[in-house]
This record gives sequence, C-alpha cells and structure tokens, in this order.
Amino acid sequence: MDAWEAIYTTRAMRRVKKDPIPVEVQKKILDAAIRAPSGGNTQTWRFLLVDDPAVKAKLGPIYRECMDMVWGSIYNTRLDAAKASPEDPESVEFMKMYRSASHLAEHFEDYPLMLFAFCQFDTSGGSIFPAVWNAMLAARIEGVGSSLTSAFHFKGDAMKKVLGVPEEGNWIFSACVTFGYPTGRWGVAPRRPAHEVSFRNSWDGALGFEIPEPLWSMD
Ligand SMILES: Cc1cc2nc3c(=O)[nH]c(=O)nc-3n(C[C@H](O)[C@H](O)[C@H](O)COP(=O)(O)O)c2cc1C
Repeated sequence: MDAWEAIYTTRAMRRVKKDPIPVEVQKKILDAAIRAPSGGNTQTWRFLLVDDPAVKAKLGPIYRECMDMVWGSIYNTRLDAAKASPEDPESVEFMKMYRSASHLAEHFEDYPLMLFAFCQFDTSGGSIFPAVWNAMLAARIEGVGSSLTSAFHFKGDAMKKVLGVPEEGNWIFSACVTFGYPTGRWGVAPRRPAHEVSFRNSWDGALGFEIPEPLWSMD
C-alpha cells in the first residue's frame, strides 16, 4: 500500500468483525511499534496483546465504567450542548463520535485483538505515542482497522490488576488499541485544514499557502 493512503485513511475504526487477527499480522503490528522513536532511544515501553475472552470479559465492564466517567466529566458540556442543538454541524460531528465510541464500549469484548501500551518516566506520552501510531499504521496496511482509547486512565489500577502489571517499575498506562477487520469502508478523516492551525515564523505569521482539500484522496 502507498504510504500516503495509510496516513490519510488510518482513523478510528470501531465497527469491526470478530474474525481473529492472524499471528503474522500481529507480528507486523508489534515490529512496527518498536521501530518508533523514543526520547534518548530508551525504549522504556511494554506492549500487551490481549485476545483471551476471559481477560476481555474482565476488562469490558471496567472499560464501560471508564467511558461513563469520560462522558460525565471531560465531555459533559459538549454532550449536553449537542443534545440541546442536534442540528448544529458541530453537534452532528460530536454525536457521530459519541455513537462510535459508545459502540466500542458496548462491544468491547467482541474486538478480536487489543494492544495495551505502557511506558516509564514519560508523562507527556511523547515516547510512546509514536509507537502506538506505528502499530495502527501497520494494522491499516494489513487491512486491519484500529481505534485508540485512553479511557482506562479513569480506572487504571483495576485494569492493571487484570493484566498483571507489576506495581514496581512505575509503568504508566498510555493507550489501549482495539483491532479488527472493518465491516465498512475506509475513508479520509475530516479535519480542520492545516492552514487554519499552522503559521510561519511567528505565532500568527502568514503561512503563505492554503490546503482547502486533502492532498490525497480515495479516487
Ligand atoms: C490521546 C487519545 C485518546 C483517545 N481516547 C479515546 C477514548 O477514551 N475513547 C474512544 O472511544 N476514543 C478515543 N480516542 C479516539 C478519538 O476519539 C479519535 O481518534 C477521534 O475522534 C478522531 O477519529 P477519526 O480519526 O475517526 O476521525 C482517543 C484518541 C487519542 C489520540
């Protein structure tokens, strides 16, 4: 696959089939992850693959509690605003994300494979998210959809206990990525164009160009 296609079409793919992810694909996902950079090349990371239904059955209820906390705290205001003005374009976009994220929570146990990423001494996430994204890009190249979630932060201790994460070592939970073969089609993620969020030479310096449409498209 063209690298541009992987970059432009890797997005939260939460509606997936239950079909298992072959070990050869799992190898590619993990080998891509550990190619990523980390500060000082310390590689102080650990990746846990989860595919055991018994483990997923323990994690599912914890995850749903976490997502309830997500909607009730950080997204509380946006959720209320979207429900109050459902026609508003921002509300429409938000509710799409809400329904998709809720689908993931409701079907957590059905995802055939998950990757939990942990790091040490890196509260910024700068030394772990490149690896997580590499894993997601590798999955995309293999035709596997993925979705990143950090909601387990809300009940990190309960999740770590299920996974047997040692108390020593100060392992910080960074992300859980669910994987699965998509039920739908791939598409380019809509985003605010680069020229609206980028400048040149100073904070509000003119960039000098605009990019009204994505520079890569499915056609
Ligand atoms: C740091 C981070 C944390 C995220 N946490 C969650 C989460 O808790 N639950 C969830 O369903 N999605 C989570 N997501 C996925 C985002 O909702 C998703 O990437 C975003 O809505 C864009 O989706 P799109 O690429 O399909 O447009 C997270 C993504 C990132 C980068």
